[in-house]
Amino acid sequence: MRIDVLTVLPGLFDCFLSEGIIGKAVQSGKVEVNVVNIRDFALDKHKVVDDVPYGGGPGMVLKPEPIFRAYEELTKEGEKPYVILTEPWGETFNQDMALEFSKKERLLIICGRYEGVDERVKALVDREVSIGDYVLTGGELPAMVIMDAVIRLLPGVLGNEESLKADSFMDRGLLGYPNYTRPAEFRGMKVPEVLLSGHHKKIELWRKEQSLRKTLKRKPEVIERLKKEGMLTKEELR
Ligand code: ADE
Repeated sequence: MRIDVLTVLPGLFDCFLSEGIIGKAVQSGKVEVNVVNIRDFALDKHKVVDDVPYGGGPGMVLKPEPIFRAYEELTKEGEKPYVILTEPWGETFNQDMALEFSKKERLLIICGRYEGVDERVKALVDREVSIGDYVLTGGELPAMVIMDAVIRLLPGVLGNEESLKADSFMDRGLLGYPNYTRPAEFRGMKVPEVLLSGHHKKIELWRKEQSLRKTLKRKPEVIERLKKEGMLTKEELR
């Protein structure tokens, strides 16, 4: 997969793209990420990328020309990318979207600014995406959130493909079960006996129960939906 990112703050992506699992995915070529400074495509000698809004009001708005010029330069050859604009009022990002995006050959993410982007930029955009109901100063963190969720789904990025299956939200939207590691007792807090038993069937049952309980408590709407859709087994309904 190739991901192009259009931003006015390219430096923010440096650590994200060089550390940890994402850093490895980039270094091994499982994903090619190209961070582009919108400023490099500004038309004037002062490299201006934003301007005051028509009609007045606070803040600055990202100008359309540099974004269109960057888009045109990046898409001169190769497959047309699927274009995402980060937007506080966009569709809320979730695991299904991450899965959908991870199947695209090419993504292009335009990082909005909180005051806004000239509406005409949306002529380039396939999807306006928010990462939640709060307002950030810009779309760079949302772009990293989206990329992180997408890149970890690419083949070979996570060493253990099983951990993908165990993800919260991957099994019908049920939340994940609690995890423990050594020591078996820490400051008086004990690891549940069943996990020490070595009895795989019992462990599996315990985890399923924990997962259902947690979902019922924190996201009862998910259980309701699964019930309606007949997506819970008889055993799970008990
Ligand atoms: N830009 C500012 N806030 C945002 C949010 N919550 N999601 C996506 N883009 C944003």
